Amino acid sequence: MRKKILITGGAGFIGGNFVQYMVNKYLEYDIYNLDLLTYAGDLTKHKEIEDKKNYFFIRADIADRETILALFEKEKFDYVVHFAAESHVDRSITDPGVFVRTNVLGTQVLLDAAKLTGITKFIHVSTDEVYGELDFDPTTFFTEETPLQPNSPYSASKASSDLLVRAYHETYGLPVNITRCSNNYGPYHFPEKLIPLTISRVLNEQKVPIYGDGKNIRDWLHVFDHCAAIDLVMHEGVIGEVYNVGGHNERTNLEVVKTIINVLGKSEELIEFVADRLGHDKRYAIDPTKLEKLGWKPKYTFETGIAQTIQWYLDNKEWWEQVISGKYQKYFEKQYSI
Ligand code: NAD
Ligand code: DAU
Repeated sequence: MRKKILITGGAGFIGGNFVQYMVNKYLEYDIYNLDLLTYAGDLTKHKEIEDKKNYFFIRADIADRETILALFEKEKFDYVVHFAAESHVDRSITDPGVFVRTNVLGTQVLLDAAKLTGITKFIHVSTDEVYGELDFDPTTFFTEETPLQPNSPYSASKASSDLLVRAYHETYGLPVNITRCSNNYGPYHFPEKLIPLTISRVLNEQKVPIYGDGKNIRDWLHVFDHCAAIDLVMHEGVIGEVYNVGGHNERTNLEVVKTIINVLGKSEELIEFVADRLGHDKRYAIDPTKLEKLGWKPKYTFETGIAQTIQWYLDNKEWWEQVISGKYQKYFEKQYSI
């Protein structure tokens, strides 16, 4: 029997890369990409795979209980890999409600559907932001035992969804894993986030806004390394466990922006310091030891990863210009119907 894998949020950045990775790697699996196609979802990225026999697209809202239950009853998925979310911290500061609806209620609907129809495993893709922030002591890291102390409405909604996933495992025995990854970058990153925003602005000779003094630290991981980590957790992760994902690539925001400007041969005068983000977390840094023991090792350093990413943005200007202007393919002709 062919295995059925439901990937939610597969029209977005990480979910989109993961859909392509799975469709190409596992010809023996049927990959169902379920996405609402919000501002962050686009299907043009899947033109190379949309005709493959093992790929299906479903336009649906994860918070739409009736539709989701009907879909799970019909397909009896073996795995769910759950990426769909509102993902941008700045948007959560101005409009927290949609974050609660999608990230908390949407996750609970998926958990209910998986519980009712049975599943081999539910993989919940979470974030290191649920742990809150670290200070600048470079010897401190987030481990899987670090208490959850989310600071933004986004991270609070993700932490809430993590707790629901945990509760469905403890209460109903639902087979789950939770992954908590550091900041991703790479192809198809929506140009509202720091790295793609910087690349697109520098290429257009526009100012790059840096919040506060630019000394906040993020731990960057190439999205292809994140995809490989989720694949490993899906197949080898111990049921009920949490796995942190990160590659020890800490950089200040100022370092990241200067690196991009220098690689593109532009002037650092493009940098503009602006008002700080409310509740701006100082530093994130992951201890990935548990995942490394499972057999994961990242392929990219920050230097090789950022070079690959900048080249990708140079080669795919049409994609990010379309995304910025909102003029991209919203619908998919061969849409699956429930
Ligand atoms: P993204 O914003 O690029 O994509 C999110 C996708 O979810 C979009 O395609 C959107 O259309 C879809 N979506 C939103 N609401 C939906 C709904 N109600 N129903 C169905 N689909 C819906 O996000 P991303 O950066 O790819 O992040 C994916 C996941 O990974 C998120 O859960 C995020 O919390 C987590 N994560 C992201 C990072 C990062 O650095 N970007 C790091 C760690 C974890
Ligand atoms: O750590 C994982 C998280 O990484 C994910 O869970 C989130 O979905 C993802 O958006 C990302 O969150 P951040 O807030 O860290 O990413 P962002 O790219 O928005 O910001 C990175 C850093 O850069 C942060 O310190 C804020 C700063 N920044 C961001 C923007 C957009 C700026 O200085 N200027 C900017 O214009």
